[in-house]
Amino acid sequence: MTILCTGSVAFDYLMSFPGYFKDHILPDRLESISLSFLVESMIRQRGGNAPNIAYTLALLGGRPSVMATVGEDFGEYRAWLESRGVDTSNIREVRGTYTASFFANTDRANNQICSFFPGAMAFAAQLSLHDLPDRPELVVISPNDPGAMCQLVRECHALNIPYLYDPSQQVVRLSPDDIREGVTGADSLFVNEYEFELVQKHTGMTPDQIIEQVGYLVVTLGAKGAAIYAEGHCYEVPAATPRAILDPTGVGDAFRAGFIRGRQLGLPWETCGKMGSLAAAYCLETRGPQEHSFTLAEFVGRYRQQFGDDGRVDVLLENSLSPG
Ligand SMILES: Nc1ncnc2c1ncn2[C@@H]1O[C@H](COP(=O)(O)OP(=O)(O)OP(=O)(O)O)[C@@H](O)[C@H]1O
Ligand SMILES: [Mg+2]
Repeated sequence: MTILCTGSVAFDYLMSFPGYFKDHILPDRLESISLSFLVESMIRQRGGNAPNIAYTLALLGGRPSVMATVGEDFGEYRAWLESRGVDTSNIREVRGTYTASFFANTDRANNQICSFFPGAMAFAAQLSLHDLPDRPELVVISPNDPGAMCQLVRECHALNIPYLYDPSQQVVRLSPDDIREGVTGADSLFVNEYEFELVQKHTGMTPDQIIEQVGYLVVTLGAKGAAIYAEGHCYEVPAATPRAILDPTGVGDAFRAGFIRGRQLGLPWETCGKMGSLAAAYCLETRGPQEHSFTLAEFVGRYRQQFGDDGRVDVLLENSLSPG
């Protein structure tokens, strides 16, 4: 059975401006801003939460599938995902649209001016779990069109399919009722510290009430690692040591992938957490959320070196399926 990743699929267009925005913004002319920055570099990266998670799951030997809507510019991206072992048969192209696109211009002081165009993502609610040929073992509900996220929660409830609720940055776009519905009955809730506070504030639920509603809760703590609340215990998981920090984009997604691959293989809680930490460290070491790479043997070797216990992580090697 497969893990179905739902969520945004996007291209990230990242530009750098060799100056300071503040030198060009005239405070007494704010009524009529008209600016164009000649940038010195631009890269286009594959991004979006669903394929980011699926990409690392595939590296770890899982056979993930992505369900999402994309635009006519998706062809090469699809081929890339397929070549890495991600099933894209549930990704639907919407005629006459662009894939969601994130445009970020960064100046010398690391200030950013960004825009996000949802494009084909606005049609995500057209896809339904009811239409899937096979029942997934887990549905990952990551940031997406808010209507689609709510619909996926309801469909998981109706079909009794376990789901990982990952509202992330969309916490600010979902209503308190939506978040409460998503948390209630989730197989798991994944949030960073800040999002955990927001979920509490918006739903009025205490941490204990949240923990009671979900199978397990994972709060990621950046460089401090993560906390897992499961079966009446709290497990503190250390972060892995990155060899370098090039770009934090996608660390949260890589962590989720490492964790749920551990769960899929039936590994203990702390092992799952450490697998998440290590996957995140690999992601930190490259620019972009899908640029890291490792073999299973490398991953297992580094896991042992980093954490000094095997936690049965060897089963990763035994259960590897060749991609494709
Ligand atoms: N500086 C770091 N060094 C080592 N590991 C890190 C570092 N930052 C993050 N991580 C790893 O990544 C995991 C997720 O990080 P974090 O809590 O910052 O997620 P996030 O805020 O959701 O990130 P994202 O920017 O992807 O949304 C952490 O639990 C940790 O394992
Ligand atoms: Mg995040």
